Amino acid sequence: MIEPRITEEMISELVDRFYARVRSDAIIGPVFAERISDWPPHLERMKAFWSSVMLTSGRYKGRPAVVHAMVPGIRPWMFARWLALFESTLNDLFEPDIAAAFMLRANRMSESLQAALFRRSGPPLKPVAGNPQIGALR
Ligand code: HEM
Repeated sequence: MIEPRITEEMISELVDRFYARVRSDAIIGPVFAERISDWPPHLERMKAFWSSVMLTSGRYKGRPAVVHAMVPGIRPWMFARWLALFESTLNDLFEPDIAAAFMLRANRMSESLQAALFRRSGPPLKPVAGNPQIGALR
């Protein structure tokens, strides 16, 4: 269901504030710092992603499972930290039902990323665009 009270402006503020927390976080901050030197394009991509998810705007085109397979140092237990920071940002900004709508999608995405990255039997994912094994999981 699309929540009519969610706007692009809200998503923009959410993403800015969330990644400010991520960057200063001792647990997951270093993993982002290792991979991202130029933050504005990443923030724009994440705004497009959340706009596509929450507003079905189609602004994001990408393959998150493939991208995360190329992030050195990403570990399964880090997802709980990511989600906790995301939830605390949401709770500071929005009403509980809006926060819950975002968390539903974040949890699903977290599960599918972890399934793609860590829960496969067989050889680890190769970070190759167009890998049919990754495609099948998304
Ligand atoms: C431990 C948890 C996570 C870590 C450490 C992490 C880290 C990263 C990093 C470093 C990038 C930039 C990769 C690059 O451009 O080189 C990235 C991109 C991205 N992340 Fe995550 N991430 C995590 C969880 C999540 C979750 C739960 C979501 C969604 C709810 C998400 C959505 C995305 C998206 C959409 C991109 C952009 C992919 C693209 O370039 O198209 N991430 N992440």
